[in-house]
Amino acid sequence: MLSPSILSADFGKLKEQIEVINQSDADLIHVDVMDGVFVPNISFGFTILDSMVKFTKKPLDIHLMIVEPDRYIARFAEYKPGYLTVHFESSIHLHRTLSFIKSFGLKAGIALNPHTAVNAIEEVISIADLVLVMSVNPGFGGQKFIPESLSKIRKTKELILKNNSKSLIEVDGGIGLNNINDVVTAGADIVVAGNAVFGTGKISDSISELKKNI
Ligand code: DX5
Ligand code: ZN
Repeated sequence: MLSPSILSADFGKLKEQIEVINQSDADLIHVDVMDGVFVPNISFGFTILDSMVKFTKKPLDIHLMIVEPDRYIARFAEYKPGYLTVHFESSIHLHRTLSFIKSFGLKAGIALNPHTAVNAIEEVISIADLVLVMSVNPGFGGQKFIPESLSKIRKTKELILKNNSKSLIEVDGGIGLNNINDVVTAGADIVVAGNAVFGTGKISDSISELKKNI
């Protein structure tokens, strides 16, 4: 599956660009929420999302890069996203947080920063619907893929299989036509792409090209 990251869109043409995504082969739409505390950048919040959901037809894939995510989960649940993902590093009671997300009937994801070992989530992998392996340090679009992420994706796959978890693997950051094959071969089920979709000037064609490699 392909999840174009709206962070790289031209926000002056947001409606137009989302409509292109609606008509494209994209499976989801990746929504990066950043609070300026968990990551050194601020993206957008409820005002933009309230308006976006009115014309978005693909399921939302919400990636929360915020501290204390529990405070806002009920509010994000109102958008009925396809996935709602919190960071391992920002959740003190991750089991509770994932259970809370699932109590809304939603699929719950765990995002891992590049430095976080995969085995840190062994005790919660059975209740996770998604593991989001960050292949850049979160905070910005258009960064370079960290090559060690490939072995991390393989380790995530092993952990999932060992624990009979149904979790999918999503990989996020620095993915384009040059490395999407490697990412998928390593075990990614969902690939996020920001710059590789919106930076080309041909959103729909770029999505089709990337999808051919999944
Ligand atoms: C980074 C975000 C990513 C980012 C991906 O903090 O989580 O989703 O938008 O953008 P690219 O594909 O340009 O690295
Ligand atoms: Zn993201």
